[in-house]
Amino acid sequence: MDFLEAERRLLTLSRSPDDVPLIQVRGVTRSYRSDVETVWAARDVDFVAYPGDFVCVFGASGSGKSTLLNLLAGLDFAEAGEIQVGNVDVRKADEKERARLRLHTVGMVFQDHQLIEEFTAVENVALPAEALGASASAAREEAMRRLARVGLTGLEDRLPGQMSGGQRQRVGMARALMGDREILLGDEPTGSLDSESTLGLFKTIRTLCDEGTLAVICSHDARCQAFADVCFEMVDGRLIPQGPDGGRTA
Ligand SMILES: Nc1ncnc2c1ncn2[C@@H]1O[C@H](COP(=O)(O)OP(=O)(O)O)[C@@H](O)[C@H]1O
Ligand SMILES: [Mg+2]
Repeated sequence: MDFLEAERRLLTLSRSPDDVPLIQVRGVTRSYRSDVETVWAARDVDFVAYPGDFVCVFGASGSGKSTLLNLLAGLDFAEAGEIQVGNVDVRKADEKERARLRLHTVGMVFQDHQLIEEFTAVENVALPAEALGASASAAREEAMRRLARVGLTGLEDRLPGQMSGGQRQRVGMARALMGDREILLGDEPTGSLDSESTLGLFKTIRTLCDEGTLAVICSHDARCQAFADVCFEMVDGRLIPQGPDGGRTA
């Protein structure tokens, strides 16, 4: 499959003409220059994603995966190109608009679950609700619902230390989606999980996407291809579409 075919597959992926992209990235470049070299963390990156898409990005360490996610979340700055996330033009947005984007539209999870150890699962998930202006009871209600959606019913009152690595990552995903955030960005969320827990987490992300969440998940584990709608390999800042067989297509 050549590049054009991959693009066509991407564009024809169960889209109706009325579907509106949630993420549009065009010609995005981010480099680091020193006296001796230029490192391309993102190089002419293009991609479009829609509500419900599971987008998987795999690539070697240093290839630019974290840079891409940080650019989408408005945590890093591109030097060229366009980044549209929801109705926000991220490159033109000021600091306040970018903070609003992260509060209302984009949630992130990382290799380290970043939960508060003294808080229970439901308390951790409910945390963003205060910033979102929800009452304590509404926050708890939404947190319970989100924990159920990631398969953690019955574990709401456990502390992070009383859960497995995979369960903790699910709590992190539930928290990242509080306030009906539409986009989940995962920076190697399976990085410290065993093989079976990794598959479990991919399955959970698939379920969230089937319910309408758009997930962009960076991973070292190429098995995410089995669950994703669209796959890319990142190589030296370039985002290369992958065929269904996982072979390089460009
Ligand atoms: N603040 C920085 N200063 C200089 N180089 C950086 C900085 N941040 C990232 N890089 C470089 O950009 C490239 C991409 O980094 P990153 O996005 O973290 O890759 P990945 O997440 O795939 O490991 C790497 O070569 C890295 O060394
Ligand atoms: Mg990284």
